[in-house]
Amino acid sequence: MYAPNTKINPTPIILGIESSCDETAAAVICGRKLLSSEIISSATEQAKYGGVVPEIASRAHTEAVDEVVRRALKTANVSANRLDAVAVTYGAGLLGALLVGLSFAKGLAYSLNIPLVGVNHIRGHLSAAYLVDSELKPPFVTLLASGGHTAILHTVSYLDFKVLGGTCDDAAGEAFDKVARVLGLEYPGGVNVERLAREGENTIKLPSALVKNSTRMQFSYSGLKTAVINAVHNAAQRGEEVGYADVACSFQHAAIDPLVKKTVECAKNLGVGVVTAGGGVIANGYLRDSLTKACQRAGLRCVLPEKRFCTDNAAMIASEGLTQYLAGNFSPLGLNACAQIPLV
Ligand code: KG4
Ligand code: ZN
Repeated sequence: MYAPNTKINPTPIILGIESSCDETAAAVICGRKLLSSEIISSATEQAKYGGVVPEIASRAHTEAVDEVVRRALKTANVSANRLDAVAVTYGAGLLGALLVGLSFAKGLAYSLNIPLVGVNHIRGHLSAAYLVDSELKPPFVTLLASGGHTAILHTVSYLDFKVLGGTCDDAAGEAFDKVARVLGLEYPGGVNVERLAREGENTIKLPSALVKNSTRMQFSYSGLKTAVINAVHNAAQRGEEVGYADVACSFQHAAIDPLVKKTVECAKNLGVGVVTAGGGVIANGYLRDSLTKACQRAGLRCVLPEKRFCTDNAAMIASEGLTQYLAGNFSPLGLNACAQIPLV
């Protein structure tokens, strides 16, 4: 019978498992100390199709999940029977992909008779900041920018967030991916736009991602993406050459500058001294530089997860799993995968 010990260990050893998209990942933490983080990615396979094919992702997770968990336990030098809990992403993401990690985690939790902790993937991205500094404590202002979400949050406590503003259409990462396609760059798009942008200059006039004259702080990436498409197509129709590196660089400025500006403004207005960030777009070197410098100028502390913990990984899932475990938020074995879950 499954009746796990729910007495909370203040320094638990937690295995995190992530399989929401194309990375199969596992990590082990002991308290806030990260012991291992392993990833097996199907990105190269997906690149052949220009994006993530859900069926291929699910099959790849099935092949990789056992191996990646073994590696994470081995690198951490922890045997499975020393685990206090298994934390696993249950959403948001591709259903078939999520079910692979979730079913594996359930089987492990059941066989070891330890708690299962279901983790919201986006909360995982936000918890990557705790991997930088184990002493880090809210409140912060947090910039979230991933493939599916873009928002500025007031992180009031480990478990309590207020959305200060966000996108009203596409997410920033999605815009990077779409612009990559327009510029003929391979999947994964974001990092390739960044590479190309390094060779160009901010010379093309594009609309800022910040929505003007809105009563709420709002961003729009759909309009910006369309402006990029128009800039490229109109130039082609006029028989003019438009430098793709300049387009990439100008787009990067229009997409990122307002996020940086507004994040710092929010921290100043709220009197919060720390800025954190999470999500795949935070791996962008230009964003990291701009946000770090803007925080320095404003006298704010800027805590950015390492690049490898911005894109999908299991260390962030273990980190958020720890927060939920310490709050006693355990999940039943009947926990289902969810394609979409609200952030707060
Ligand atoms: O957080 P993430 O790995 O997955 C989601 O949970 O959505 O974010 C993936 C997104 C993709 O849209 C990708 O293009 C973007 O993050 N991304 C980047 C960079 N690396 C990943 N965008 C801009 N610059 C990068 N270096
Ligand atoms: Zn993600």
